[in-house]
Amino acid sequence: MQLQQNFQLKDYNTFGINVYAKYFGTFSTLNELQYLLQDTNNYCKAVNSKSNTLILGGGSNILFTKNYDGIVLKNEILDIEKINEDEDNIFVKVGAGIMWHDFVLYCIENDFAGVENLSFIPGTVGASPIQNIGAYGVEIKDVFFELEAYNISEKKNIVFSQSNCEFGYRDSIFKNKFKDQFVIISVTFKLNKTPIFKTSYGAIAAELEKNGVENLSIKAVSDAVIAIRKSKLPNPSQIGNAGSFFKNPTIDNDYFEKLKIKFPNIVGYVVSKTHTKLAAGWLIEQCGWKGFREADAGCHQNQALVLVNYGKAQGTQIYNLSTNIIESVKNKFGVQLQREVNII
Ligand code: FAD
Ligand code: EPU
Repeated sequence: MQLQQNFQLKDYNTFGINVYAKYFGTFSTLNELQYLLQDTNNYCKAVNSKSNTLILGGGSNILFTKNYDGIVLKNEILDIEKINEDEDNIFVKVGAGIMWHDFVLYCIENDFAGVENLSFIPGTVGASPIQNIGAYGVEIKDVFFELEAYNISEKKNIVFSQSNCEFGYRDSIFKNKFKDQFVIISVTFKLNKTPIFKTSYGAIAAELEKNGVENLSIKAVSDAVIAIRKSKLPNPSQIGNAGSFFKNPTIDNDYFEKLKIKFPNIVGYVVSKTHTKLAAGWLIEQCGWKGFREADAGCHQNQALVLVNYGKAQGTQIYNLSTNIIESVKNKFGVQLQREVNII
């Protein structure tokens, strides 16, 4: 639990960027967190510096562009407890440091439905509400009940309900108004006793058929999602990456119709009466970036939305590549891409 100095973060971010934190500590209880924050405060007062603090989960949605001039605190709160149930639902309170996919496996083992489509997403449970993780037609807001978070400046715990979190597509209040103000301690999920299968998204149905699945189960859906993800996304232990680097942009339906005339193959999904979501991977590929590599920074050859570190790339090289991609997509399509990954 003691703070360590000049700590190497290469193995603590899935991009594998070789940077150092001035101080680094881990906490596995709220008390330990409070102790470390107090320690941080005392230290910063003593040296008259600002107390920069970064809460780290699995480091799978972060790009470090420089050494971290502050204290990195890694969340390792690992409690998990079924706290309640009613006729239809099970309520499970999950420590923020538990790996997301371990929680999914726990649900499948216990027959708790709702997170099977979210199988194999890297990172921790504590980070899952930050960007409202999503995949294959499900987002955590669909199974979220409440979370407990520690307010760093007010030094107290607050419970956030679903509506307090202001969830959106890859978004929540913790990326906006409350950015860097809270440490998520636990998340309580409301899971279903009877599964509501969602198999129409992407290649799930085709994968289930390929596997000869006749009796649908949450395990079969999870296995299908895992297989699709393994075939599409690079494994960070082999090639550094943080999943989709950009969000899929949403534009007006009118503008989508205009783009369709000029680019008949453009990939977009109508999401409301007024808006269409575009596949950013398609836009980036059309600008010629797919498979691009300069030194060790690149755009993945099978999935243009994923930027990669082939080994020794610096965070700034990946960041600069992302800026060039944003510019070229803007020039060709008049569409502004936004980064999904947190830039530090
Ligand atoms: P980190 O990267 O450690 O942190 C992310 C942000 O959350 C930082 O700002 C950090 O300060 C903050 N944070 C972390 N924990 C806490 C806490 N306890 N309290 C307060 N703040 C905290 N995402 C999807 O939504 N869908 C996908 O399908 C998907 N696929 C991916 C595939 C790959 C191969 C990879 C590498 C990433 C993918 N991601 C996906 C992104 C990533 O898995 C998620 O964003 C995940 O939730 C990040 O968790 P983490 O613990 O690694 O967070
Ligand atoms: N496409 C291309 N070229 C590419 C990549 C994609 O043309 O190089 C087009 C294809 O037409 C494809 C479409 O884009 O049909 C969508 O691609 P895909 O199904 O791979 O999904 P995505 O939009 O690229 C999103 C999420 C993923 C999530 C998957 C599955 C975002 C930013 N990304 O990717 O989330 O796993 O759908 O639901 O919404 C993440 O957030 O890190 C992430 C990996």
